[in-house]
Amino acid sequence: MLELDRVRYAWPDGPPVIEELSLKIRAGDKVVILGANGCGKSTLLKLMNGLVFPQSGQVSYADTVLEKSALAERCFARRFRQECVLLFQHPEAMLFNPTVQDEIAYGPRQLGLPDADARVAHWAAALQLDALLDQPPFLLSGGEKQKLALACLLAVDPRLLLLDEPSASLDPATVGWLIDTLLDGERTVVVSTHNLSLAAELGSRCLVLGPRGRLLYDGPVAAALKDMALLEEARLAHRHRHRHGGALHSHVHAHDWDAG
Ligand SMILES: Nc1ncnc2c1ncn2[C@@H]1O[C@H](COP(=O)(O)OP(=O)(O)OP(=O)(O)O)[C@@H](O)[C@H]1O
Ligand SMILES: [Mg+2]
Repeated sequence: MLELDRVRYAWPDGPPVIEELSLKIRAGDKVVILGANGCGKSTLLKLMNGLVFPQSGQVSYADTVLEKSALAERCFARRFRQECVLLFQHPEAMLFNPTVQDEIAYGPRQLGLPDADARVAHWAAALQLDALLDQPPFLLSGGEKQKLALACLLAVDPRLLLLDEPSASLDPATVGWLIDTLLDGERTVVVSTHNLSLAAELGSRCLVLGPRGRLLYDGPVAAALKDMALLEEARLAHRHRHRHGGALHSHVHAHDWDAG
């Protein structure tokens, strides 16, 4: 469905964030991306969503190379923007309509879908936003904004859902709902997170990124979470001193995940 072939990307005037990264996302994959702050998770998701373009190598969706000229072509751009969507790490950037209702309806209306109102009702109810439909999005709480941004994406029924740290401000019940919704069905999902316990529930496949977007691991989630050397290299576990009984000693921890 999506293929990266020897992708290199640097932000303007910056050092390379991603170098020589190759990977394939197959239809139906549930992929979790793990990695330390600044390792390039959000950048990778933006490359996958055709928001930025590699300086060398290429990203392809189905068999089309994602480059400026392809996305300038209306027919492909429309299909791609419906089928592949990204929940930003800071979803305020996605919200600009006068009300919650307009915000959820925006995508379906842009795509000319006939049942925009029914989609608003469905996803507002699913995410407990029904009481807020007439509110301006900027007045919502952080978690409500994140739920609204998710509703907007789900309302266009994407095939490939890219989520950047979706659990960061959601309450546990909504995270549970999200896991059920994501694992349900055929939809292909790529989620970045630091939350190792969420990783175990979300995905079957895990990509662990090291510095400069280097792929340290691509394989089953469960095995990655048991590999303390890998987690430490990826800065997902850390070594610090603590006490057991009277003895002070130091060993590696992954704080929200006890690989036991
Ligand atoms: N819009 C931007 N312009 C310039 N540099 C950027 C931009 N976005 C990210 N960077 C730089 O690219 C590098 C990778 O950032 P990125 O946001 O992809 O990391 P991340 O893995 O998502 O981190 P986090 O866990 O903190 O969300 C960082 O060094 C960052 O400073
Ligand atoms: Mg990020």
